[in-house]
Amino acid sequence: MTIEIRTLTPTIGAEIGGVDLSAPLSNTEFDAIHQALLDHQVIFFRDQHITVDQHKAFGARFGKLHVHPNAPKTLPEHPEILTIKAGPDSKRVAGEVWHSDVSCDVEPPMGSILHIHEVPENGGGDTMFANQYAAYEALSPAMQGFLQTLTAQHESRKSANHQYRDPAPDQRFPEAEHPVVRTHPETGRKALFVNRGFTTRILQLSPAESDALLNMLFTHAEQPKFVCRFKWRPYSIAFWDNRAVQHQAMWDYFPQRRFGYRVTVCGDKPFLRP
Ligand code: SIN
Repeated sequence: MTIEIRTLTPTIGAEIGGVDLSAPLSNTEFDAIHQALLDHQVIFFRDQHITVDQHKAFGARFGKLHVHPNAPKTLPEHPEILTIKAGPDSKRVAGEVWHSDVSCDVEPPMGSILHIHEVPENGGGDTMFANQYAAYEALSPAMQGFLQTLTAQHESRKSANHQYRDPAPDQRFPEAEHPVVRTHPETGRKALFVNRGFTTRILQLSPAESDALLNMLFTHAEQPKFVCRFKWRPYSIAFWDNRAVQHQAMWDYFPQRRFGYRVTVCGDKPFLRP
């Protein structure tokens, strides 16, 4: 099979065809998928009927698998699997607020691979992804230079994510300080690295200055011109690069059901190379 890459928008997102993720990837396939992720920040696959083990094996080609600090282990023999589930009894869903996954960790995940098995019958449940290189590059040179001098705190306590809002008995609340602009460790490009879900304050500024600047950056970074919107079908996969995108899950389908599994690939400590 030949891998095909079709862009979703000129700015972000590509659908990858001609690959069966239930089989081990050849090195050529791996290289093409890896490069597509770096080029398009989020990539999508359709009709992938893979098992949990195959899902984990695909993720493990890109790095060590991450275990969420708080998520319930719904598949006890697979602690690396995060279940994404909503239905008539849900009070909240994961990822409703724009965020980069677990950015409250000292070493946030490099990427996340979501396999949705069941989609809402009413057509809802899309996911949106925003290109944070483009968000950074659209700022004025003066603002880019200023942001490069700043760091921000990311706190799990801020997160609307139900993994933190419905605490387990052994709950822990990670937090971390990261540069406001990070250098992508593979592409060398600079990306904005603050998000509404986890970022609470800019450490070098007064509270009023920090609130004003963060609100401006959140609104700037989430603009539709930086975004692609993915419409799921059963057994679609999205693989996004948390170092270069933020994402938001639309919960517009209550009380319909949506169900899938996510595997998350470990990352490294964000840094800025000026
Ligand atoms: C998430 O991983 O933040 C959830 C994304 C989604 O359910 O579309």
